[in-house]
Amino acid sequence: MSNDQKNCPLTSVEAIDTIEEIAGVFPAYRRAHAKGIGFDAIFSPNGSAASYTTASHLLQETSAIVRFSHSTPNPDPTEQLVPVKGMSVQFQLPNGKVTNLTMATVPVFITKTPEEFIQLLQAVKGDKLSFTEKISTLKNNPNFHAAAKILKNSIPSKSFLTERYYSIHAYYLINKNKQRQAVKFEWEPTDSGEETSRFTVSKIGNPMEDELVNRLENGPIHFNLIIQLAQPGDSINDSTQEWPDNREKVCIGTLSIHERRLDNAEPHVFDPTIVTDGLQCSDDPVLHFRRAAYAESAKRRHQFVKLLEN
Ligand code: HEM
Repeated sequence: MSNDQKNCPLTSVEAIDTIEEIAGVFPAYRRAHAKGIGFDAIFSPNGSAASYTTASHLLQETSAIVRFSHSTPNPDPTEQLVPVKGMSVQFQLPNGKVTNLTMATVPVFITKTPEEFIQLLQAVKGDKLSFTEKISTLKNNPNFHAAAKILKNSIPSKSFLTERYYSIHAYYLINKNKQRQAVKFEWEPTDSGEETSRFTVSKIGNPMEDELVNRLENGPIHFNLIIQLAQPGDSINDSTQEWPDNREKVCIGTLSIHERRLDNAEPHVFDPTIVTDGLQCSDDPVLHFRRAAYAESAKRRHQFVKLLEN
């Protein structure tokens, strides 16, 4: 058993088996966020993180791989009906290592623990229940209250460019005096809806990917990286809890997405627990479970791609 699964009765194999049982098996694809598009980018810090962290990518210009995705395990979804979208960023550090931020368009996760997440998938699987019945199944179980609220309020996004993406989990920034500050990350879009809507070409096929590719012809796409600073008493290890709105937010730099990647970022694994010196994961059990789940999903899809190549 890996360190990530200590105290967790659910294994990553069981979790991925459950996702496959519910959503179907698409062997070459990620078992969640199957459809996506990859780009190259540069992150330029603005100096504001210097008092909080020694993490090199937050202090000096660093290249990055970016992947936008639709959360469903189905690799051919009707894009504009998938409510949650992802934005994964893998910073390429000068020492040859990487550090990841794997974020989504909702500020909270649907359950506090990975076990509850899998139970929730099982509770609402299949076509037997209507949408309203699914919502009331969730409402009737206290562990699923956050899920009911998110589902009820989620409006499917029409553009990757105008969304805000959240780390959901807290991380610690650690400075040169070894002081820790708990933060959550956000990517803030700089493109406005008016500028980008004219690039949307169709409602079927790949409208959201096409928009990104067409928009790049006008120059790089920018997102600002924001940190939200926790105060004493804020819940650090519970993915279902937002921090109060009045917590200070600081912009620490800008990501410039400049080129489509030929490999579409397919081989990459954006494990959110891989962080460099100057950063530390919180003890959120969902965050730690993601490590093993992403590894199991990557193992299955990479094995299949290798089989095809041989
Ligand atoms: C127990 C909870 C979770 C499970 C079991 C889970 C599972 C997975 C799996 C299996 C993948 C595919 C990994 C791969 O093949 O490389 C994935 C991708 C992804 N997940 Fe999660 N996830 C969980 C929670 C979250 C949360 C809280 C977020 C948002 C902060 C999130 C955002 C994403 C994104 C953006 C991707 C796409 C990564 C990429 O671009 O490669 N997931 N997830």
